[in-house]
Amino acid sequence: MSLLEDAAKVRENAYAPYSGFKVGAALRTLSGNVYTGCNVENAAYPEGTCAEAGAIAAMVAAGETEIAELSVIADSSEPVAPCGGCRQKIAEFAKQDVVVTLATTSGLTQGITVRDLLPGAFNAAAMDKG
Ligand code: THU
Repeated sequence: MSLLEDAAKVRENAYAPYSGFKVGAALRTLSGNVYTGCNVENAAYPEGTCAEAGAIAAMVAAGETEIAELSVIADSSEPVAPCGGCRQKIAEFAKQDVVVTLATTSGLTQGITVRDLLPGAFNAAAMDKG
């Protein structure tokens, strides 16, 4: 199964009764393992979590920290744009030239690098005092 197919499959499990907008994410690590996540909403709206955050949490829980490839899919007219918070979360665990594939359930895809997803990302180096 391709990473995009993994993302589409986990999207079916998304819990999105408030927005009605289901999202699936699948990432492959350098070791070749695949981790998936879907959005999980909450009646207290800000407590909801994004699909990308779920996949990243699954990866870290399994003891891995290096994303080699990531796909995100939703039923949107244009390939789904990750929110700002997720861009920052992705940048924490992926090198700048890693490609993120954004997709629609109707078959549109767009590849974008982590560099272009979040130019000027805050990172650990910013906390160096020199
Ligand atoms: N959402 C994601 O899971 N990932 C994205 O990249 C965009 C937005 C979710 C959050 C919320 O559950 C729903 O989509 C509507 O914003």
